[in-house]
Amino acid sequence: MIPIKTADEILRMREAGAVAAEVLSRMAKYAIAGVSTDDLDRFGRDIMMELGAKSACLQYPGRNGNYPAYTCISINDEVVHGVPSRNVILKDGDIVSIDVATFYRGYVGDNTRTVRVGNVSKEVDSFVKVTEEALSLGIEQAKDGNRVGDISHAIEMHAKRHGYGILRGFVGHGVGREMHEEPEIPNYGKPHTGPLLKAGMTLAIEPMFTMGDEEIFIAKDGWTVKTKDGKCAAHCEHTILITDNLPEILTLVKK
Ligand code: MF3
Ligand code: CO
Repeated sequence: MIPIKTADEILRMREAGAVAAEVLSRMAKYAIAGVSTDDLDRFGRDIMMELGAKSACLQYPGRNGNYPAYTCISINDEVVHGVPSRNVILKDGDIVSIDVATFYRGYVGDNTRTVRVGNVSKEVDSFVKVTEEALSLGIEQAKDGNRVGDISHAIEMHAKRHGYGILRGFVGHGVGREMHEEPEIPNYGKPHTGPLLKAGMTLAIEPMFTMGDEEIFIAKDGWTVKTKDGKCAAHCEHTILITDNLPEILTLVKK
């Protein structure tokens, strides 16, 4: 069953989304050359503490043990679930995907941005832009009466149009009291297929694209997903609410 949030839960999801967005936005500004991904993670932890939020990633159980950090930070050829490290120092021209999922008053907000560190090449810049556009196109399909496959298809087509690869083993998801609820939202699929979308559902939509081949492997740390060909990957994510009208993005920064 896909949970339909009550009016009260929707208020809480709005708050949870705003908190996750603030953590991510402040971390994104801190992602400059010379900073290690571990510095960045601890910076994120401090903001969570300040805002009264908790990481939804820390200790999250996986096949190779529990996730060891507060956020996932994946640079260049790392696609997702990058484990922050003191030995990984951001440098000019890198791209870094920062994935922030937090609990706030019992509800989860989940969002990701791929940040450009200093000046990135034109090719990498357009690649990141296409991933961002795919997220918007996916969100546009998140309407009452549509199906999950409509979101998936919109994302897939945008990657294909530009000749990029799609991460197939990892998906978007429902989000609420738990970080991962039903349904799964693959980044490829057929229109008019899959679970029916209804107002009151809250979803994390998250295209994960590769610049080259789609083959990936998991690094020795048991978490970090990397491309086999060493080419860059990008990841963008928002938590959204399906309404009777346009979807509402819950992970926007409040002014
Ligand atoms: N926030 C990620 C997602 O979108 C999950 C991180 S995996 C974890 O699903 F192990 F770090 F929690
Ligand atoms: Co997610």
